[in-house]
Amino acid sequence: MLVLVGLMGAGKSSVGKRLSEYLNVGFIDADQEIEKAAGMNIVEIFEKFGENYFRSGEKKVINRLILSEPQVLSTGGGAFMCKEIREVIKRYGFSIWLKADLETLWPRVSGKGNRPLLNNKYPKQELENLIIERDPIYKKANITIESKANISHLAMVDKIIQKLKKHNILTRTTQ
Ligand code: S3P
Repeated sequence: MLVLVGLMGAGKSSVGKRLSEYLNVGFIDADQEIEKAAGMNIVEIFEKFGENYFRSGEKKVINRLILSEPQVLSTGGGAFMCKEIREVIKRYGFSIWLKADLETLWPRVSGKGNRPLLNNKYPKQELENLIIERDPIYKKANITIESKANISHLAMVDKIIQKLKKHNILTRTTQ
């Protein structure tokens, strides 16, 4: 299982989807699965039940998905912060950090209202804080791929494939 990790706006879902198409394997988005299970979107889950409830749903969903067929899994930005989730990903998957800076991420997430952690007075500052806090942990992923505003999703997929080949991962994942 190839697992995409990184901050909101890094492109985990869109790049993950294209990566799965390239490899001709299935794609799953953990956030979408959480929404399906809860019957509501993430903003509503946070509003009605709070972040802790969302995090425990996130853990359950990833624990379940990681054991499915070899494929591509995109995780929500906070998932990799949880030690238990990191361990399960390490054990059953291969993690890919889509690393991006504030200037790349901000235009992709601002004004959308669909990220509860950014629905506050100083969202850009909050995003910057998340980068500072989380990047050292995302760094624990098996590989890091830089995501820049001007890099197309396909070019990102290409970079990922090159790195996977170097790590001899591709044959294991696609067979
Ligand atoms: C979160 C990121 C979101 C979603 C939730 C919390 C986070 O996913 O899981 O809003 O803690 O960074 P994306 O990274 O797909 O936006």
